[in-house]
Amino acid sequence: MKKWISVALPKGRLGDQVYDMLERSGYDCPEIRSGSRKLIFENEEVGVRYFEVKPTDVVKYVERGSADVGIAGKDILLEYDPDVYELLDLGIGKCRMCVAGPKDWEDDNERTLRVATKFTRITAVYFAGKGRDIDLIKLHGSIELAPIVGLSDVIVDIVETGKTLKENDLEVKEEIVPISARFIANKASFQFRTAEIEAMRDALARETAGNK
Ligand code: PRP
Repeated sequence: MKKWISVALPKGRLGDQVYDMLERSGYDCPEIRSGSRKLIFENEEVGVRYFEVKPTDVVKYVERGSADVGIAGKDILLEYDPDVYELLDLGIGKCRMCVAGPKDWEDDNERTLRVATKFTRITAVYFAGKGRDIDLIKLHGSIELAPIVGLSDVIVDIVETGKTLKENDLEVKEEIVPISARFIANKASFQFRTAEIEAMRDALARETAGNK
């Protein structure tokens, strides 16, 4: 009997795009398109099982081995630093992790910089690398509001089109790191099922060739 490969897919547009790529490569699972509220979708014939989870949770399922492989943004990998293998840059979900602030704001090195973000680890590492003292303010959403109402001086957040910054009179001050989606694997799964996981990675790599 064929053993399942479990794939943690991030819910939303990125997950949909990656599923399309896998479907074209033969890892199809028609039930996933049924609009059902189920969270697990299986295709026994192919031996693939998909979990749909919140993008930030993908790394938890993969790191602890509940899923053999998964798709996670580089932002999530840098922030949570999970003990997984990063096997492929999918070249989609591209954006930039940036420091942003009001257009008229100028940095004053004499003062502690107040930084609002969801990405506290990335932010702490980045400013520590610059030798800059910061007051780190962890938020969970609507980060762009913080400098507008004086909660912080700047923010660290993802910029994709730049529309959110523009509409809130903010601008990019510094770029920290480019981001894209990565194919990741649980370390033990990769050790025991190398050929199957590499086959999936290679199929995605063929689909990805035009994305880079
Ligand atoms: C992200 C990010 C920005 C926005 C940037 O939020 O936090 O707010 O996208 O995109 P843009 O440059 O194209 O305007 P997201 O929509 O992922 O929601 P979230 O705040 O819940 O993470």
